[in-house]
Amino acid sequence: QWTTSSIVDEQVARIREQIGDGKAICGLSGGVDSAVAAALVQKAIGDRLTCVFVDHGLLRAGERAQVERDYVAATGIKLVTVDARERFLTALAGVTDPEQKRKIIGREFIRVFEQAERDLKAEGDYRFLVQGTLYPDVVESGGGAGAANIKSHHNVGGLPDDLQFELVEPLRALFKDEVRRVGTELGLPETIVQRQPFPGPGLGIRIIGEVTQERLDTLRQADAIAREELTLAGLDRSIWQCPVVLLADVRSVGVQGDGRTYGHPVVLRPVSSEDAMTADWTRLPYEVLERISTRITNEVAEVNRVVLDVTSKPPGTIEWE
Ligand code: XMP
Repeated sequence: QWTTSSIVDEQVARIREQIGDGKAICGLSGGVDSAVAAALVQKAIGDRLTCVFVDHGLLRAGERAQVERDYVAATGIKLVTVDARERFLTALAGVTDPEQKRKIIGREFIRVFEQAERDLKAEGDYRFLVQGTLYPDVVESGGGAGAANIKSHHNVGGLPDDLQFELVEPLRALFKDEVRRVGTELGLPETIVQRQPFPGPGLGIRIIGEVTQERLDTLRQADAIAREELTLAGLDRSIWQCPVVLLADVRSVGVQGDGRTYGHPVVLRPVSSEDAMTADWTRLPYEVLERISTRITNEVAEVNRVVLDVTSKPPGTIEWE
């Protein structure tokens, strides 16, 4: 029978065996998975691990500051932040197909890690790349036994063919609840361990249509309002996550003040789940939905309609792309 501490011991031993006296880079996203993967590797190889936080411009409000502040404070980890906003926006220009977006984002992440590896050359040879890949990421990307490719998670099916790094993926056999327990066992704070999932491709796969700076700004504002109201209502721990999706290519007629508007809808996608393999839509209280809707349509200029997604998984997936 596996206990959390035996998972930690076994993974630390495996990581030491794999990396030997080498050095590793770990992409840190701010989420639970990469945070726990990094903490495990840090326990195994100490300061021969350098974390890289990629600001790809597809982040939610406040995320970069949170990683730079909270995670470093909790772990004392060595962190390099790369501003890659321009790079991702250029690579995504004109792209609307979900799988293509995912592959481009997966590839650009690796290109940024390769650049970081070159920049760190003076300190040694960073041959290993740590990723917080979970079992469900592998299954959905078509890697599990008999599994279909549902979507290419950026860290699995989205990896480029010419990958030079050797991957270190200590969470590859685990589900999210197990990862959270490992994080707690490693002493990570609640604010990190209990964070709701947020996908590596970020807001890029929550804009249905082309990703542009303007659309990102719009979605970021709407998302921040939804998150704030859900937190105020004390619902963070009872929902798995609540993606906010911008239907950038859809417009509808509205009326605000005494004028006609012709804006975009956003979709609220609150879900409850155990492991993200299946999910149910969360019956949020009407008052909370009302506050989110009123605030988004009042405060976000381009949005004049808020709709609620009442689809389970299956048949819907959690993210729209
Ligand atoms: P879906 O949309 O497949 O999502 O039902 C299942 C869970 O995985 C998250 N997700 C991702 N996480 N990289 C990630 O790190 C990805 O490419 C990715 N795609 C989806 C999603 O937010 C949900 O929690």
